[in-house]
Amino acid sequence: MEPWVDWDLLRRRARELCDRAYAPYSNYRVGAAALVDDGRIVAGCNVENAGYGVTLCAECGLVSDLVGGGGGRLLAFTCCNGKGEVIMPCGRCRQLLFEHGGSELLVETPRGILPMREVLPQAFGPDALA
Ligand code: THU
Repeated sequence: MEPWVDWDLLRRRARELCDRAYAPYSNYRVGAAALVDDGRIVAGCNVENAGYGVTLCAECGLVSDLVGGGGGRLLAFTCCNGKGEVIMPCGRCRQLLFEHGGSELLVETPRGILPMREVLPQAFGPDALA
């Protein structure tokens, strides 16, 4: 399946970012990495805050890396916890990723690689505002 995606490289990058996470409150580190349509790899880690609700998920950092680095479309995405296990992006982050990757974005999940249309069905997105 999709031999053009180097999933091992993405997983390694997600683990590297996980090591840099700032998660002193939950002690739950998250690292995320994605392949962009121009070949770049973008990544992020969670950054918690004493105001718990202000916490930034790893995907927020990844999207900031994407946009700040010149934009583009996300093609393939993975995220992991501190044990290196693949985890699901939270609901809010699925929405964040959908904006920049759409229905065909490949998402690595504990049940294998799935298109975003299965991870976030009937998504509300840019088309709704067109
Ligand atoms: N977290 C993420 O970074 N991404 C997700 O998709 C799920 C949750 C972080 C937020 C918080 O710092 C910690 O995991 C526990 O919820």
